[in-house]
Amino acid sequence: MPVTALVSAASCGVTSSALALTLASARPSLLAECDPKGGTLRAGFLQGQVNAGYGLYHLAAAERVGPEALAQTFASHLWPVDEAGHRKILPGLTDPAQAAALDRTWSALSDVLHVLAHDAGHDVFIDAGRLAVTSGHLHPTLTPAPLIHQADLVLLVVRNTEASLALTRHLVDPLRTELDEHGTGASALGLLVLEREATHRGRGYTTHQIADALKTPVLAALPWDAAVADFLTEGGTPPRGYARSELLRHARTASEQLEAVAQRRRVQQEFPSQPAQPQLAGVLQRLTQHRAGRRG
Ligand SMILES: Nc1ncnc2c1ncn2[C@@H]1O[C@H](COP(=O)(O)OP(=O)(O)OP(=O)(O)O)[C@@H](O)[C@H]1O
Ligand SMILES: [Mg+2]
Repeated sequence: MPVTALVSAASCGVTSSALALTLASARPSLLAECDPKGGTLRAGFLQGQVNAGYGLYHLAAAERVGPEALAQTFASHLWPVDEAGHRKILPGLTDPAQAAALDRTWSALSDVLHVLAHDAGHDVFIDAGRLAVTSGHLHPTLTPAPLIHQADLVLLVVRNTEASLALTRHLVDPLRTELDEHGTGASALGLLVLEREATHRGRGYTTHQIADALKTPVLAALPWDAAVADFLTEGGTPPRGYARSELLRHARTASEQLEAVAQRRRVQQEFPSQPAQPQLAGVLQRLTQHRAGRRG
């Protein structure tokens, strides 16, 4: 299953979308809240049930001991969000100042997340927060750059509004370059569009227009649903019909689409298309014609 990192230009719905995908996935799933600017799930969706003794920050000390200590600490800091324990959250930082301690941890954490996804069949979603770019590159402390580089898919979350498009536009080229230079290639990059209906205040762009404007494929779309998104952000009592809501149903479809795209990329990386070999093609053609002729 893929490791998918979600990022944005501005606070447009990364955390709630990553949570919706995690809760709706058809497989065991994990949301790793790795926004260096601090996590919001602890106080919001988790309603303060998880204290500061749990979460991402504690992985920094474990990583300094070694990979096994990191893997064990990681496993013991996951918070289940369903009764069966199939859906889990790694709660994020309680203070943005903690991010500096994680410089060395991101890459080792990425390895752990990839093992969980590829060997243990989890859908892994990373909340990598708002992107900070400096001199055309991901900021080394204000972004969890190694997690983004190594993700199977990087989803740039964008709303279908003029304001969101205007801010997001500047991130596309630096992200593409970064993935080409340090990651698995720019083809890991796609858009997750949050589709707000057109209002008197502004038109809602179609996914087609957004893909065109940002020159990036739309890999998934989620509907605008203030009540469900508010529950995912603030926690508390779920709104009526929450489990069958459009937002969760689309999130389930989206998680399937993402898995399919990641699978296609894996195949392409394993078996890159060969440059055309005219001589070989000619020999094969003659052979097949010869056989067909003998049969006839
Ligand atoms: N699909 C949606 N429909 C309606 N409202 C949404 C949707 N997704 C997110 N929101 C709302 O947008 C606001 C921001 O959401 P969220 O906290 O997920 O964004 P974020 O990108 O993680 O922000 P930050 O970068 O500040 O962490 C919240 O009020 C949330 O309820
Ligand atoms: Mg967030």
